[in-house]
Amino acid sequence: MTGLQDKVVIVTGGARGIGAATAARMAKGGAKIVITDLLDELGTKHAAQIGGMFVHHDVTSEDDWQRVIDTTIEHYGRLDGLVNNAGIATGAPGTPIEDETLESFERSLKVNLSGVFLGLKAVVGPMKAAGGGSIVNIASVTGLSGFPGVSGYGASKWGVRGLTKIAATEFGAHRIRVNAVNPGATLTPMNEGQVPVGEGNFPPAPLARIGAPEEIAEAVSFLISDAASYTTGADISVDGGWTARPAG
Ligand SMILES: NC(=O)c1ccc[n+]([C@@H]2O[C@H](COP(=O)([O-])OP(=O)(O)OC[C@H]3O[C@@H](n4cnc5c(N)ncnc54)[C@H](O)[C@@H]3O)[C@@H](O)[C@H]2O)c1
Repeated sequence: MTGLQDKVVIVTGGARGIGAATAARMAKGGAKIVITDLLDELGTKHAAQIGGMFVHHDVTSEDDWQRVIDTTIEHYGRLDGLVNNAGIATGAPGTPIEDETLESFERSLKVNLSGVFLGLKAVVGPMKAAGGGSIVNIASVTGLSGFPGVSGYGASKWGVRGLTKIAATEFGAHRIRVNAVNPGATLTPMNEGQVPVGEGNFPPAPLARIGAPEEIAEAVSFLISDAASYTTGADISVDGGWTARPAG
């Protein structure tokens, strides 16, 4: 893939799962990666493996965002890309709205949606200064229809897709592109033991299997790169065709 060489890209929640695979894929393409996460040990180790750097970060903290941006600029001199990937799944999967607690619902919104909002707010200044940039927000197929039993998570991901389009509209004049990727069921520590592994074992998707983090990473890396220079305000589902099925 062209168009990643020497780009300075922050990947939130990059210590493991989809974020870790994305950070590794972009580093392979020549990007300079800043991994941020709550998980210091794992994040530091992964950053060293891919030749990037690690910064401790809680995406719900505006102060932390400022520190991440300052450290990135100090170290690399500029900022070209952001992958808003950090996310959590709160509450037991399958919990109906009547049993979901307000605390659990709001926790999903805080990390998955407010965390993305704070990221957009924090990077727009430095990206304007750099003459442009590219942002990818990790949403989900749960933000495309009414998946039962994930009210907080699903609402947060609908919000991420909406916020992506708003930011794309606001930032376009500054040559800052903003897109979203909707992963389908993907094998990561977030859902290990909850998703069926192996070919043919996931019938809801036409490809009949769940995805690997590396397969999501390819789409994210494309959108960050200059290869996607005319793509903004879009969201791409990487879900084995799960959401392409007709209703019924
Ligand atoms: N795995 C899937 O099936 C799937 C499907 C659709 C969307 N997603 C989304 O993909 C993204 C990555 O998920 P994953 O499956 O790799 O999960 P994961 O749990 O393996 O990784 C998420 C990472 O985010 C970090 N994180 C959590 N809260 C944070 C915070 N407040 N500040 C900073 N870092 C924080 C975690 O420490 C972890 O390293 C999430 O946004 C998730 O909602 C995942």
